[in-house]
Amino acid sequence: MIPLELRLVEDYESMSREAADLVADRLRREPEPVLLLPTGGTPLGMYRRLVELHEGGLSFSRATLFNLDEYIGLPPQHPSSYRAYMHRELYRHVDADPRRVHLPDGSAVDTEAEAARYEAEIEAAGGVDLCVLGIGRNGHIGFNEPGTPFDARTRPVRLDGSTRRANARDFGGEDAPEKAITVGPGTIFDAREVLLLASGEPKAAAVAAALEGRVTQDVPASALRGHPRFTLLADRAAGGGLSG
Ligand code: PGA
Repeated sequence: MIPLELRLVEDYESMSREAADLVADRLRREPEPVLLLPTGGTPLGMYRRLVELHEGGLSFSRATLFNLDEYIGLPPQHPSSYRAYMHRELYRHVDADPRRVHLPDGSAVDTEAEAARYEAEIEAAGGVDLCVLGIGRNGHIGFNEPGTPFDARTRPVRLDGSTRRANARDFGGEDAPEKAITVGPGTIFDAREVLLLASGEPKAAAVAAALEGRVTQDVPASALRGHPRFTLLADRAAGGGLSG
């Protein structure tokens, strides 16, 4: 098994700063970097820090930017859509080129076709240089819930009840939508570098299962264990129990 790089930091703030530094490093080094980015609570601090770095001169203008997932059934301008999230947290503050910003269209009528189109867009961009991810309490990555085959590609999926409840905070306390389009574990695994972020005690069990348990599709994040360039960046509360 290829050893993963484990970066344990003190707290959420340090995790966010380090994650932003790794993203910034890619943006500076690659002539045309391709990033695959997460939403949710975990990366908010990373995006805040990236905005600060942009104010200090970091440019996004040559980057091609994809997101991992989007809810099905929400118009793109819906405030709880991930398109709105990315605009609010990152894109309206930086110099990203709108022609190079991609998210699945959750309002598409034919969601299978939309997922295939999105997968093809990633391929046409030359694949992903760096994928940044969070982890669900059930071990999901993107919206790939337990049971997802490791080789699955971008497709429409049904969300677990626990995921819909965890994300109810974005829907005024109502469960999040039932379905989403997500980039698959196969597509994530093909990224040249993968950075998994985890913060807080509620993630500790999922992190331990993903990193030290069996490699199984019941824990989608365990798929990353065989990746040649995989870093877990976790705070003590989420990753402190790992044997390292
Ligand atoms: P969170 O979600 O960052 O909102 O905890 C992570 C995930 O479900 O992938």
